Amino acid sequence: MEIFLDTANVDEVATYADIINGVTTNPSLIAKSRCNDLCEHIIKICRLVSGLVSVEVSSIEYDSMLAEGKMLAKIHDNVCVKLPCTRDGLKACKQLSTAGIPTNMTLCFSPPQALLAAKCGATYVSPFVGRLDDTGYDGMSLVEDIVNIYKAQKYGTKILVASIRSPQHVTQAAMLGADAVTMPPQILWQCFEHPFTVKGLEIFAKDVKDLSKSVS
Ligand code: G3P
Repeated sequence: MEIFLDTANVDEVATYADIINGVTTNPSLIAKSRCNDLCEHIIKICRLVSGLVSVEVSSIEYDSMLAEGKMLAKIHDNVCVKLPCTRDGLKACKQLSTAGIPTNMTLCFSPPQALLAAKCGATYVSPFVGRLDDTGYDGMSLVEDIVNIYKAQKYGTKILVASIRSPQHVTQAAMLGADAVTMPPQILWQCFEHPFTVKGLEIFAKDVKDLSKSVS
């Protein structure tokens, strides 16, 4: 399963660059990074990782979305153009995918949206599990539905589980057979940080110290 970091912060990407496949950003994360020059900022992030970096269009209408997508794709070979699961977004996805530009269909909240994203040739579809959980719906059941649809229909679009709120979401996505997850740095940290691991290291260090004392 591919692991993406959901951030537009260059330092955060650098911290985890060796254990992630790529990065996903969105307009809110870009705004939070307070970058002055979007192109330079994206290039910096692309240089840190070997895989794809999703960058979202800000336009909502087809023509401008397509132009923006082409412009973003020219910034770096590893840019993956992120588009919303709307009528215009799907149309732009089809054009960009046909032109060989990687795409990530975002803000996916239903199985038919994912079905259409695949039909339009999307490289990735991003179901937002956390935001669905927030509404009382089980976000992971959407992932399960998409996994089943793509298997049954033999679609090649990869499922990139987004809006991840906990390490449990990561485990569940992996168990369901999702192709990728994207998570904020604090969730990635929680994925490897475990109190028993920390405690275990303390015990080992103490035992080694005690033993060396008794030998000397
Ligand atoms: O990158 C999009 C997605 O991961 C956003 O997550 O936490 O804002 O719902 P969140």
